[in-house]
Amino acid sequence: MRIALYPGTFDPITYGHLDVIERAVALFDEVVITLAKHSQKTPLFTTTERKALIEQATAHLPTISVETCDGLLVEFAEKRGAIAIIRGLRAVSDFDYEFQIALANRVLAPGVATVFLLPGEQYTYLNSSIVREVARLGGNVESFVPAHVGVALKSKFNTRTKP
Ligand code: COA
Repeated sequence: MRIALYPGTFDPITYGHLDVIERAVALFDEVVITLAKHSQKTPLFTTTERKALIEQATAHLPTISVETCDGLLVEFAEKRGAIAIIRGLRAVSDFDYEFQIALANRVLAPGVATVFLLPGEQYTYLNSSIVREVARLGGNVESFVPAHVGVALKSKFNTRTKP
């Protein structure tokens, strides 16, 4: 059984994440979407809310599960029996940071490979901060996130989506 983790903050999950998830599902027997902690981020959505939004967005994918990790990602990978950590590379600007983390993780856990996948080019600009900012200002986020995520953003910010 080849298990991969796809870690992130997912605050919230976007079509760009889903694009990477669907590519990973084709390569691995099980993909564990891992809600991990970024030391410098205070998410808008709680862990429970983010998990529920991901579960609804991936309900059509039977080999996906959603779990949380509070500590070191590679320790969780080993505990979970994962052979790979999936990372999406959206642009060259992602590379330096990802390269450093992948090497550090390889030193910490040589049995866990980092696998880089390219999201669809239509999502190279996308990140969760942009989505939160558009929603916060009452903009329409339907091109960026599934409908239920748009509803959750709207209720968080208590704004009305502009036409
Ligand atoms: N489509 C759309 N957006 C994407 C994307 C994609 N394919 N891939 C990444 N993004 C977005 C993310 O949503 C995030 O947006 P935001 O910063 O505006 O919220 C941004 O791009 C950066 O993504 P990423 O680098 O994956 O950050 P993250 O916060 O989602 O996840 C962790 C980082 C949690 C995976 C990392 O901090 C971690 O591994 N923590 C665990 C602790 C640990 O082991 N630390 C040591 C690592 S050496």
